[in-house]
Amino acid sequence: MPDTPKSAAAETIYLRDYTAFGWTVTSVHLTFDLAPNATRVTTKIAFAPNPDAPAQPFTLMGEDLTLISARIDGVTVTPTLHPGGLTVDVPDAPFIWEAEVEIDPASNTALEGLYMSNGMYCTQCEAEGFRKITYYPDRPDVMAPYSVRVNSDLPVLLSNGNPVAQGDGFAEWDDPWPKPSYLFALVAGDLVAHSDRITTMSGREVALNIWVRPGDEDKCAYAMDALKRSMIWDEQVYGREYDLDVFNIVAVDDFNMGAMENKGLNIFNSKFVLASAETATDADFARIESIIAHEYFHNWTGNRITCRDWFQLCLKEGLTVYRDQQFSGDMRSHAVQRIEDVLMLRARQFREDNGPLAHPVRPDHYVEINNFYTATVYEKGAEVIGMLRTLVGEDGYRDALNLYFDRHDGDASTIEDWLKVFEDATGRDLGQFKRWYTQSGTPRLTLNERFNDGTYEIDIKQEVPETKNQADPQPLHIPVAIGLLSPNGDEVVPTQILELTETQQTFRFDGLGAAPVASVLRNFSAPVIVNRAGGADQNAFLLAHDTDPFNKWEAGRALSKSVLLDLLNGDDAGVAGYVDAMAQVITDDALDPAFRALTLGLPSEDDLAQSVFDGGCTPDPMAIYDALGILRGAMAAGLETPLRAIYAEMHTPGAYSPDAGPAGRRALRGAALGLLSRIDGGALARAHYDGADNMTDSLAALSALLRIGQGQDQIDAFYAKWADDRLVLDKWFMMQVALAPPETAAKIAENLSRHPAFDWKNPNRFRSLIGGLTSNAAGFHAADGAGYRFVAEWLMRLDPKNPQTAARMSTAFETWRRYDADRQDLIREQLNRIAAMTPISRDMGEMVGRMLNA
Ligand code: TRP
Ligand code: ZN
Repeated sequence: MPDTPKSAAAETIYLRDYTAFGWTVTSVHLTFDLAPNATRVTTKIAFAPNPDAPAQPFTLMGEDLTLISARIDGVTVTPTLHPGGLTVDVPDAPFIWEAEVEIDPASNTALEGLYMSNGMYCTQCEAEGFRKITYYPDRPDVMAPYSVRVNSDLPVLLSNGNPVAQGDGFAEWDDPWPKPSYLFALVAGDLVAHSDRITTMSGREVALNIWVRPGDEDKCAYAMDALKRSMIWDEQVYGREYDLDVFNIVAVDDFNMGAMENKGLNIFNSKFVLASAETATDADFARIESIIAHEYFHNWTGNRITCRDWFQLCLKEGLTVYRDQQFSGDMRSHAVQRIEDVLMLRARQFREDNGPLAHPVRPDHYVEINNFYTATVYEKGAEVIGMLRTLVGEDGYRDALNLYFDRHDGDASTIEDWLKVFEDATGRDLGQFKRWYTQSGTPRLTLNERFNDGTYEIDIKQEVPETKNQADPQPLHIPVAIGLLSPNGDEVVPTQILELTETQQTFRFDGLGAAPVASVLRNFSAPVIVNRAGGADQNAFLLAHDTDPFNKWEAGRALSKSVLLDLLNGDDAGVAGYVDAMAQVITDDALDPAFRALTLGLPSEDDLAQSVFDGGCTPDPMAIYDALGILRGAMAAGLETPLRAIYAEMHTPGAYSPDAGPAGRRALRGAALGLLSRIDGGALARAHYDGADNMTDSLAALSALLRIGQGQDQIDAFYAKWADDRLVLDKWFMMQVALAPPETAAKIAENLSRHPAFDWKNPNRFRSLIGGLTSNAAGFHAADGAGYRFVAEWLMRLDPKNPQTAARMSTAFETWRRYDADRQDLIREQLNRIAAMTPISRDMGEMVGRMLNA
């Protein structure tokens, strides 16, 4: 039994309480003697008093550790153990701490610290997992060089940095770059490498390896290609080169998140590495490309410059997401990338920011930091950087970033440091802009427009929502990109940036011949909601004429949303006009097929529910589902001829390529197929399934069939074909539940949860099934509460094993205040049931507490 159990007390940590650690660490040496249930970890750590820190007792963090022995300067000591760590008297001078602890990786189901997955040892230390490996000042502002020895009979033994020695039953690694403990990693297993190499811009030769389980080595080529392109891109665009002799990536099946940027040894959820045409969709390939890039880019934004404390998480995550989005845009299409990023932002971040879990991009308090790896920190954090760049311009951004790397290399930094480099490099005052980091909630902009005597005026009013933690929100500094189009569709005023800093401001444009149509918030220049009286004609005009591709798409989205909201009120007058507008766009061969596919997409059920709620009404999930069905049916009927033409024209014979061009063609063809299936009884989809030679086409056909209540034969055939492929089987679970008819979704989920392949302790499998149901809005919100009960029961089952994943998935309930009293009662009952669980994890306790008490 470990003698330092995890603290049960859920203590709140505040940003304002930050104090530096009383010692610096000058070196860390770790030895691992690996054994599944009794791994020995021996540490030798050099500490020196930190003159900049207040006096404090010497305390190291530790959880689930059995302390075997401890020495200071070679003399045995007896530390005081307490929940969460130990305290011991130390000399008032530099000293060497040595300790031996025992840990039990085979019993570690939380997947934090050192754990096992299919016989392989691996680690996950961010945010606070290193303390489950040994006693340490496990906080990001303590940075040190590490050397590591791994003793094990397993054939492949990896850690951070460069390999220094290896032989029978051991390997030694040395990482010269000072790093915080959260970037430590160790992997040991029976692995094979897909290898390559690259020469950096200064001529350093780097060996690249992607380590996978035997049998998976033929699914690494795309990830390797993405890695090489990422490395070249970071040199060319940011001037940043790689800094070790090797870069290793390991794919693991059991992983709580997407991937982890450990120095020189990135660890990935295998889902974001392994891909072949037969097993991965176009979307999977694009995701792999962006996550490989994201983790690689962390080498500079995160690792060389890290965070002073976890409140500063957006310093590395917002910036690294911003960089991976830029990269994907450069590799593919900026217009399509921007639309996809905004879709994701609205689906996840706006939802979060408008519910009980809203928090600032830089939170100021938390109970469990794992609960703050959120869409707000990541995606809104990236939007804030995009706004900074818009405000200071390309050159200003480049100068600020160069100053950031020069000034802070090797530091554990803060948002204040980050904003200061922008102020120093550009001379701008960012005092008001900083509120984007400290206030929560999606700002609302209301527009009022006038035209008189050649002058167009626009009033822009901003409102930042009040919340429990935000009594008196202040106006933000918001860049509003705007362009003006003449009535015949010519751009008379090209894009310019209006800087909104007051609660309300008026902007004027003189010398216009006729009343213009304004294209506002081009390229989605700020993460806000815009209310505009414009109406269907204005949106149809912008859809046809806007030169800003994002706003062109946005106009179509606004149009479909208003048609759907009208349909919910029993008014179908706008449907025909919408179908006509779509006919224009989808047959416009000058437009990228990927763009056209996105234009054919409709707002999600969840997005519509939020819009209904914002309009002061109570969303009815089933009515929303039906309205979408009606509009899709009308689109299929009204667009049949162009859709059939597109289906034929977008056929792309020849070998599969995951590149943006052919992927866009498949996306448009798949969208056409989905609509056509609503009027042909599924005939085309069955033929499409039979003819598919790649996963994108198979899934397009299968989902088209499932959406019309068919496809059982194909589901059975799919299972028979892919029963041995765990990643493909995840799709099989997910699809059946996510696309089930609302009335039967919970029942189907329940039946599948008894399937022998439902290995619920694997996070990917759990997310496929439980997340499949929560993504099926009408099914999850079924009036009898069966969906709520099913999800709550599984969260309660998972929480004791894997609190991080369980707590993250509890966000399915975050929108509960939108719904009617009956549904609110049903959800409250489930949240209370979860809250009453004993024991409850700190992670889950915090989440349900915030959801119930906001
Ligand atoms: N730093 C990782 C990333 O964004 C995120 C991450 C991976 C993570 N695993 C985690 C965060 C576990 C918390 C816990 O790339
Ligand atoms: Zn990241």
